[in-house]
Amino acid sequence: MHEPVGVLDLYAGAGGLSAGFQAAGGYRLAVAVETGQDAVSTYEANRHGVAAITRDARDFGRRDLGQVSSGPVDVIIGGPPCQGFSVGGPRDPHHPSAELLFEFARIVEEVRPAAFLLENMPGLLSFQRGTVVDRLVRTLSRLTVGRYRYTVVLDVLDAAAYGVPQHRRRVFICGVLGEALRCPAASSARVTLIEAIGDLPEWTTSSPDEELPLPKAYPLTPYQKAQRGAADVLYNRSAKRLEERRLERLAVLREGDDRRTLPDHLKASGREGKYCRLRSSAPSPTILAHDTSGFIHPHDRSGRVRRASSPSMMMSVSSPKGCGCGPSGRARSHWSSMASLGSVSHWTSEP
Ligand SMILES: C[S@@+](CC[C@H](N)C(=O)[O-])C[C@H]1O[C@@H](n2cnc3c(N)ncnc32)[C@H](O)[C@@H]1O
Repeated sequence: MHEPVGVLDLYAGAGGLSAGFQAAGGYRLAVAVETGQDAVSTYEANRHGVAAITRDARDFGRRDLGQVSSGPVDVIIGGPPCQGFSVGGPRDPHHPSAELLFEFARIVEEVRPAAFLLENMPGLLSFQRGTVVDRLVRTLSRLTVGRYRYTVVLDVLDAAAYGVPQHRRRVFICGVLGEALRCPAASSARVTLIEAIGDLPEWTTSSPDEELPLPKAYPLTPYQKAQRGAADVLYNRSAKRLEERRLERLAVLREGDDRRTLPDHLKASGREGKYCRLRSSAPSPTILAHDTSGFIHPHDRSGRVRRASSPSMMMSVSSPKGCGCGPSGRARSHWSSMASLGSVSHWTSEP
């Protein structure tokens, strides 16, 4: 039997990438590095027994592994911050995001793992006319360990093609010493929104942080079963209070409609997908971190808005309380990034 492969998670956040590697099997999380204290607490609540250290990756290197790692590191994974590259953001050329990408490369160079996986926003590809990503891939491809180099593969994958009920495109840059990897095959089957969140109870109050028993008798989809695990209680639910005019808008929207289909007297400005009533029979559009105005539950006619953090749709958790469901009230993160789907186990070497 093979020893599990040791994983170092850089810029670990709430642990989405780590969760994918854990779910894939055959990996042992050795240590996670993250600056945000809330993220570290959440990471630790989610990943029992794995050390997450509050540290700036710029101050982290091979010399630290002996003290903080629970064993050898064979693979380095990481989702460096992407604010600087987001096409929705300011795309500041001096944003530290670019520097942090190259810190990932520096740590790979120092630690010399057998493989690495870096995840980021597609906006990285066009940032500074592609020069940053070019430089990054060249830097990673030139690293050597003995007589081997990393064979680096870059791909853009949509989470919806790998079992997530949401379209979410991400760049994956993957390197393996000496070998090329093939990206996992996309599946034509999609988990629809209603297959993901159709089991959630109606809100009965807008008070945050209340606990609500999850209905037991509901016929659960495989996705719902997997998300619930052993949980029997839903935590941290809260519904935004909406002003009258918003409620009127929501009342007229049908599935697939958004602010552009509103009648004249209810017209609203804003981005294209604002006031989108989600389609129950398709994966959700990409859920945005700070704007939940375009994610209206397909069946809720009363105007209540389910938060983007509905347990089965969660993107990221930023506080130890986070959101989610669980038998003991601990935060349980749900993730959307591709490598968090267990699909890492399907990345194969070129024959
Ligand atoms: C895109 S998130 C990572 C998400 C994570 N891979 C997941 O799946 O949950 C980037 C993370 O990097 C952290 N971060 C930012 N600057 C950092 C630094 N200099 N060193 C370590 N972590 C940093 C942020 O706090 C944030 O949690």
